[in-house]
Amino acid sequence: VQHIGVLTSGGDAPGMNACVRAVVRMAIYRKVKISGIMRGYAGLLAGEMKPMDLGSVGDIIHRGGTLLRTARCKEFYEPEGQERGARRLQEAGIDGLVVIGGDGSFRGAQALMRHGISVIGIPGTIDNDIPGTDYTIGFDTAVNTVLDAINKIRDTATSHDRTNVIEVMGRRAGHIALLSGLAGGAESILVPEVPFDVDVVCARLMRGHNRGKLHSIILVAEGVGSAVELGKQIEQKTGLETRVTILGHIQRGGSPTATDRIWASQMGSRAVDLLLAGKSGLMLGVRRGELVEVALDKAMTERHGLDQELYQLAGILSI
Ligand code: F6P
Repeated sequence: VQHIGVLTSGGDAPGMNACVRAVVRMAIYRKVKISGIMRGYAGLLAGEMKPMDLGSVGDIIHRGGTLLRTARCKEFYEPEGQERGARRLQEAGIDGLVVIGGDGSFRGAQALMRHGISVIGIPGTIDNDIPGTDYTIGFDTAVNTVLDAINKIRDTATSHDRTNVIEVMGRRAGHIALLSGLAGGAESILVPEVPFDVDVVCARLMRGHNRGKLHSIILVAEGVGSAVELGKQIEQKTGLETRVTILGHIQRGGSPTATDRIWASQMGSRAVDLLLAGKSGLMLGVRRGELVEVALDKAMTERHGLDQELYQLAGILSI
């Protein structure tokens, strides 16, 4: 590989900047040309690329968002768009690409491979919903952001003797809800992977209330459905005053945690070395605490379910 391109694609995630920095700095260290592609595949199609130097990624390791900006690009789902994207890269002399994003972004990357571009994927999404890895960049920061919100909501819930329903992101997955709910001591955690019964949730609530609990936190993953509706049902069934908070996009921003920065740095630099070693079609991931390489097609199809043991533990500890 003579010239590497790097882009961020899909929803942004804290730690993407740390990853871009690692790609750029490792490429320069290895004396290979490196360009940043703006706005994901949308910017690629529009030819928005620029050479990166050491200073271009200075002062970003601690910032949320992505300095390369990002986009969800419909055009790139189509073969014509993909072919045009490959041509743009070839015209710019870019023969290796690092794609930081989620599974939709990796499908685009696979299409580029079919046109002769070497690609390495790096999982970047707060949802942690990529099958081939236990961890995605941004997940740890998002969980900590939610935890901070739970702590604050718990203060006011206690003062008012209220039930608070908190809706968190995660698309169709419940990882953010599970981890932050366990760490935050939520009374119930509702996730799409585990069926639940509102009456059972309410019975638990009443049990806690009757033994003197001054607050209850119910954490709901967005994939479960409307937290507002659920809040109404709970208030009706239990008679307990209930408030609903939808945390929304605050979960996508903020300074990345040390964990996110460290994995992002390792993945970004390893991606460059893989491309220089002639490798392509791989995603970097984490398995049992170790950095691993997974074939891109396997990375998107293998099952990566919710940690059921952890889910059960959260239930036991929150009685
Ligand atoms: O994939 C990250 C994510 O934040 C999901 O948790 C959420 O469902 C979605 O993106 C929100 O998308 P948008 O940024 O388009 O509102």
